[in-house]
Amino acid sequence: MNTKDNVELFDNFLSRIKDENIKKLWLNDAHFREKFFDYVYPDIHKVDQLNILEFGVHAGYSTSLFLDVCKLNNGKLYSVDVNDYSKSFNDPNWTFIKSRDDNFDYIEKFIPEKVDVILIDTLHKANHVEKILYNYYPKLKKDGLIIVDDVSWLYYTKNSERDNFFREINNKETFFKLIDIYNSNKENINLEFNFAHSGVSKIKKKNNLTLNKANKIKSRTFTLMNLIKKILGK
Ligand SMILES: C[S@@+](CC[C@H](N)C(=O)[O-])C[C@H]1O[C@@H](n2cnc3c(N)ncnc32)[C@H](O)[C@@H]1O
Repeated sequence: MNTKDNVELFDNFLSRIKDENIKKLWLNDAHFREKFFDYVYPDIHKVDQLNILEFGVHAGYSTSLFLDVCKLNNGKLYSVDVNDYSKSFNDPNWTFIKSRDDNFDYIEKFIPEKVDVILIDTLHKANHVEKILYNYYPKLKKDGLIIVDDVSWLYYTKNSERDNFFREINNKETFFKLIDIYNSNKENINLEFNFAHSGVSKIKKKNNLTLNKANKIKSRTFTLMNLIKKILGK
């Protein structure tokens, strides 16, 4: 999609937002526009009657984007957050579930059998992301998308824009965890990364097979052979 199309899509999206505070959020933050709008919205804005499962509401960037898609396509959004954001949006297509994301039996009661999109944007720790991803993967339709937020650590490295040790390490570990998952599931999923700001990842489900366990990639970086390679300048 070229920039002109995206600008038009974004202007139309903004014109449909009634809540002035949400509109201001989108206008004042190029970060979320690039990560969520430009990278995710074009893929989903024409999917008819889609079901979306969102983990993490907070400011409401992703929630407002998904509710717009639902309004356009007669879809439904199910949002889970440990904090009560039930009053953040008043929309007939929205179900808010106040819960931890790993309270699986409880969440199961509210959500449909299958969903088209899953956003994972709660606790940004690699093992937690893995747990949520594996639990909800069977609920994702073939060709559906899992969006994982916060997968780039560049933004948080020492002396960079948002210098933050914990976020640097968490995002980096999440990035490599997704690579490990892909390593054992090349036939089952496509994996992409967008490194804008704190980064976002897109996983597309290619078939209805079970997701294999993550397979840690064996690195040859710290080997004698690589040391010799460097000494020889090869
Ligand atoms: C980064 S914010 C979500 C941002 C949101 N997607 C947006 O676009 O504005 C993370 C959210 O996850 C919630 N959260 C953190 N840990 C959680 C957990 N284990 N289960 C459910 N929600 C959690 C927090 O309350 C917070 O609202």
